Formats: sequence, structure tokens, C-alpha cells
Amino acid sequence: MATAAKLDLSQIWVFSTCSKAELTKIRRAFTEVTVEAGRLLCEEGAPGEEFFIILSGTADVIRNGRKVNTLGPGQFFGELALLDHRPRSATVRAASEMTVLVLAQREFTGLLAEVPGLTKKLLQAVAGRLRAADSKAFH
Ligand code: CMP
Repeated sequence: MATAAKLDLSQIWVFSTCSKAELTKIRRAFTEVTVEAGRLLCEEGAPGEEFFIILSGTADVIRNGRKVNTLGPGQFFGELALLDHRPRSATVRAASEMTVLVLAQREFTGLLAEVPGLTKKLLQAVAGRLRAADSKAFH
């Protein structure tokens, strides 16, 4: 298993425009954690304290008891509650054993201020999720 120290973060889409100096800063801010299958990483309605990036394994996104998506390596979740300080919009549950990079609210806010390329990628992803949710709601 790759460790955060050896991991090439520039291979992860959300970090793909970051400079080497920014990647070093990012690597220091994140903690790598392994979680067992079934573990709840976000709980719909609960306050959000962390942002996650998946290194290995998959997670189910569940809203109102219904699975709405599955996320895998390179994808991230948990950004919404940290951005708008409102409760988690969905439950995210490990569908297999997973390795994730975890970032606490304070470090998340700090990185967004210091790394504009990361902020832009996050906005792009949130826009994509909004479009996907809209097209599901109206078609
Ligand atoms: P947040 O609301 O903080 O916590 C739950 C997370 O699940 C949410 O942030 C998003 O990152 C993610 N999420 C919610 N809905 C979807 C969806 N339809 N597809 C993919 N990810 C989602």
C-alpha cells in the first residue's frame, strides 16, 4: 500500500494543477487512514468535521436510505458541510476496506486559502455534482 509520504499526489485529479511546493504542503496537512468495510465516514444530518480523498477501496453515498452513488480511488467527499457549515448532505459508508486521506476543517480551510488551484478543482467538482443532481431530478 502506498503511504502518503511516497504517494504521488499529482496523480489525483483534484491536485493535478498544484505545484511541487503546494503538493508538499498538502501532503503534510493530510493524514492517511485505513478503515474497515461498513465504517460510516459521514452521517447524513450530522455536523461535518473532515474532508476525505479515497486512495483505495470504494464508498457508497446514501441519501434518505437510498444509494445514490459509489465513489472510488482519486475521488473525494465531505467537502459540502465544510464549505457551507451545514449538516452532512449524505451518509458515506465504506463498501470495502479503504485507505483514505483525511483533512480536518481547519486545515481544509487553510489549504483552500493557500492553494487556488485546489479551490478551482473543488468548485469544478461541486459544479459537476450539482449538474448531475439536477439532471437526475428533472429527467
Ligand atoms: P457532505 O455533505 O459534507 O457529506 C456527505 C458527502 O457526500 C458530501 O459532502 C459530498 O461530498 C458527497 N455526496 C453527496 N451527494 C453526492 C452524490 N450524489 N454523488 C457523489 N457524492 C455525493
